[in-house]
Amino acid sequence: MKINGRHYRTIWLGHDGWSVEVIDQTLLPHRFEVIALRSVEEAARAIKTMQVRGAPLIGATAAYGLALAMRDDPSDANLEKQIAFLNAQRPTAVNLRFALEEMRRVLAPVPPSERVAQAYQRAARLCDDDVEICRAIGTHGLGLIREIALRKKPGERVNILTHCNAGWIACVDWGTATAPIYMAHDAGIPVHVWVDETRPRNQGASLTAFELGAHGVPHTIIVDNAGGHYMQHGLVDLVIVGTDRVTRNGDVANKIGTYLKALAARDNGVPFYVALPYTTIDWRLDDGRRIEIEERSPDEVLRMTGRLADGSLATVEIGAPGSPAANPAFDVTPARLVTGFITECGIAEASAAGLAGLYPEMAKDAG
Ligand code: MRU
Repeated sequence: MKINGRHYRTIWLGHDGWSVEVIDQTLLPHRFEVIALRSVEEAARAIKTMQVRGAPLIGATAAYGLALAMRDDPSDANLEKQIAFLNAQRPTAVNLRFALEEMRRVLAPVPPSERVAQAYQRAARLCDDDVEICRAIGTHGLGLIREIALRKKPGERVNILTHCNAGWIACVDWGTATAPIYMAHDAGIPVHVWVDETRPRNQGASLTAFELGAHGVPHTIIVDNAGGHYMQHGLVDLVIVGTDRVTRNGDVANKIGTYLKALAARDNGVPFYVALPYTTIDWRLDDGRRIEIEERSPDEVLRMTGRLADGSLATVEIGAPGSPAANPAFDVTPARLVTGFITECGIAEASAAGLAGLYPEMAKDAG
């Protein structure tokens, strides 16, 4: 997607041909800075500190992180060590495990001397695949938005609510939840997005709003608690969110607060869709309650960072001094509250049968 008229992906190789460059998302929307990752440790730190984030981009960064690790030591022992190290950085998004297992599948059988080249090649292909997958998700989701638009008066806007950031900046390009929105906007369908701010890290207010704005998509930032109110007043036509892990029965882990949006959507008859690539399905789990939920630092709840009038960034305390805070980063929305999945293979019901219909081979392998 474009920033100031220039096309960017979220991850690419530097001019030296081996370092990996990413946009530092902890500084957006206030500063646009590109950072270079030159070691597996730097890639791991970028994932953990959320300089890169979003399930697909975490996977892509880990794949390149492993390529960086192979430059230092391509031995079998190091391959396994670094896969375990990278996989431990964030526990909920299953794309991380998927990318690392895919890298192991390609690298383990080849001699160590060939591993660096193979690792870079496979990481690049994972990124290219992600772009095409997100594009296909967009095409399928566009149909849903078009249907809603056709039921409206000419020119009346389609109001879509999204939570957190499942945009291009969370993927390699396009995004999952945002791809249908970008395509609808580009097709001339009048869309407007309610952007949940997404406390505590404000991925909605900082990142989703940033990228929608950069693409010219009309949007409004709202506090996390406002969505139910707008749904009651008929001001939300559709909810589309992303996900970090979908179990084979269709339960959905996504940013904390997603579940409450699904409850409000159900109560108000608003369709609630989850956009996902196949890399986000965890075929090994059949119950969302077994998904490991990342618990992050209480500091994220007790402090906020923003830009001062002079342009500098500052972090301020917002909690009562001495009060403890808890910070679960994700929650699980049961499949029964999800209207459907928007995937690269089409749209399906959120259930074991729905997923098996889209991905018969993977469902069969999962047993
Ligand atoms: O903690 P984050 O910012 O990595 O959480 C991101 C989300 O919850 C996204 O919705 C999810 O990863 C899907 S990104 C296409």
